[in-house]
Amino acid sequence: MSHSEKVQRRPLVVANWKLNGWRADGVTLATTLAERYGQLLAPAFDMVLCPPATLVDAVARAVDGSGVLTGGQDASAHRKGAYTGEVSAWGLADLGARYVIVGHSERRQHHHETDALVRAKATAALAAGLTPIICVGENVEAHQSGRTLAVVAEQIAGSLPGGVTAAEIVIAYEPLWAIGSGAVATLAGIEAVHQVIRADVSLVLGSDGGALRVLYGGSVKPDNAHPILSLDDVDGVLVGGASLKADDFWDIALAAG
Ligand code: PGA
Repeated sequence: MSHSEKVQRRPLVVANWKLNGWRADGVTLATTLAERYGQLLAPAFDMVLCPPATLVDAVARAVDGSGVLTGGQDASAHRKGAYTGEVSAWGLADLGARYVIVGHSERRQHHHETDALVRAKATAALAAGLTPIICVGENVEAHQSGRTLAVVAEQIAGSLPGGVTAAEIVIAYEPLWAIGSGAVATLAGIEAVHQVIRADVSLVLGSDGGALRVLYGGSVKPDNAHPILSLDDVDGVLVGGASLKADDFWDIALAAG
């Protein structure tokens, strides 16, 4: 992939706060990042903060007008109705969110979310006007037995909504064994999987995946972000633990731009 092709895909740096943050510290973190982002003359990357659903409203207000965007960490497949406890993609959009993570491995693992459910959630997100960040990634057994590409291909085939273009969705590749563990995939491994993801998505959508943004996630830190983000087929990062510290997340973001 040539450098000029990569430049067409604007890097995307996403914070996944997971179940962390109360209103005061969440607003402080969001405000700090929004101020720094707002001071850049021409930011060369997009920044999205995905707080817990309880803080989407407060964070969206805190970053309003700065260029930093807000996202959810999950959304129901349903718009509204008798679904106690669910968070509607339309509700997130109503609060100002622009993105939503779907199919994160912690949802797939702890809430038994299937590819079909992830697809339904991504479809709902799109209908609500949100960009879904669809997560895929293999567990340690699949990794060790060399089944990474097969697992990821199956997840993509099952989780992608129909009738969309590659530019309307984002894929995050997060090997489960790298999430929160301090272990990071090798650069060659990341690049190889991202290339295959782009090809898989092109195949499933029946269209060119050149505009698809493929993020890497799993123990991304300030000291490893630059080499990862320099890879041709890495178009951004999805950051968990390191996104809870303004300085760390900002350093990672600058490595994207
Ligand atoms: P981590 O989490 O950066 O803490 O490994 C990434 C994620 O789960 O999105």
